[in-house]
Amino acid sequence: MQSIPIKNVGDARLIDAFQRTYYYLRLSITDQCNFRCNYCLPNGYQPEANKPHFLTLTEITRLAQAFADMGTEKIRLTGGEPTLRKDFLTIAEHIAQIEGIRQVALTTNGYRMAKDVKAWKNAGISSINVSLDSLDPKMFYHITGINKFDEVMRGIDLAFDVGYQKVKVNSVLMKQLNDIEFDRFLAWVKDRPIQMRFIELMQTGEMDTFFQRYHLSGNILAEKLLAKGWTLQPKSLTDGPAKVFKHLDYMGEIGLIMPYEKNFCASCNRLRVSAKGKLHLCLFGEEGIELRDLLQSDEQQSLLQARIFVALQGKREHHYLHQGDSGIRQHLASIGG
Ligand code: 5AD
Ligand code: SF4
Repeated sequence: MQSIPIKNVGDARLIDAFQRTYYYLRLSITDQCNFRCNYCLPNGYQPEANKPHFLTLTEITRLAQAFADMGTEKIRLTGGEPTLRKDFLTIAEHIAQIEGIRQVALTTNGYRMAKDVKAWKNAGISSINVSLDSLDPKMFYHITGINKFDEVMRGIDLAFDVGYQKVKVNSVLMKQLNDIEFDRFLAWVKDRPIQMRFIELMQTGEMDTFFQRYHLSGNILAEKLLAKGWTLQPKSLTDGPAKVFKHLDYMGEIGLIMPYEKNFCASCNRLRVSAKGKLHLCLFGEEGIELRDLLQSDEQQSLLQARIFVALQGKREHHYLHQGDSGIRQHLASIGG
């Protein structure tokens, strides 16, 4: 490891060796999930033998503070399903109050959105991404293993009522499961300010034939969109890896997330921390760097920042998914995608 003079670390912005700046942190607060998405946890969440010991509120706050001091402006709470945590609202409130944090985002499966979206808004959550893999309740059940279609749909509508201007909806694209619903999704966003994002299925360590059977390139959707008069939007620096399309007749937007595309990683603007406090530089192919031992007291903040900074210098330019390296990650539930 290279040595970094501690006095410089206080000003260390999160910039890697390829000049990518990380203003955005995805923070998983639990591995637990109550859905059984076929591409993620087909057999449901399996608790570990010992009671899982996820980061505490205090540890989470210290971590968020360290990242904020290094220039992080946006923190996304992910899981598993983050809203399963009893202290979820308190966590959101604490993070929202940290100086420098301008956006607290949430990724949720939406199961309690209809009930809680108002409280989320009040807690300071500024944007919501909700998963919705199908507009057909039967297919929704087939993919997620849970009968919560109506709740999720109601939750999305309610989000607008409580003051969210826009909601992002994520759908993992799967051949002959939900790709046939594409036109229906388009119609759904015609009069709703939704950014509907189709995410190309990623191969994880736990999949065998699943990937071969269901993977579909997002390019097929891009061609359809262009043929229907949608236009690709130019990217701004903070946009992240989605390709966004707009159409004058539609209030909503379509986003395509294609991790197998060349250059996908060039716009990578995120770091991840797992629910047990490991820093992950990339979704794929690495073990993670332990941070938890440096979350035990406020006096450790500069050491923590130094460790994060040094680790970041080892971030690779891109992943190796093209070469069929699915990395070592079993599934994405532990890191929230
Ligand atoms: N491929 C693509 N996206 C995935 N997610 C989880 N597993 C995968 C996978 N294998 C994403 C989905 C889901 C979020 C929690 O993580 O977008 O909605
Ligand atoms: Fe849960 Fe999200 Fe995984 Fe589905 S994709 S099982 S909602 S963590």
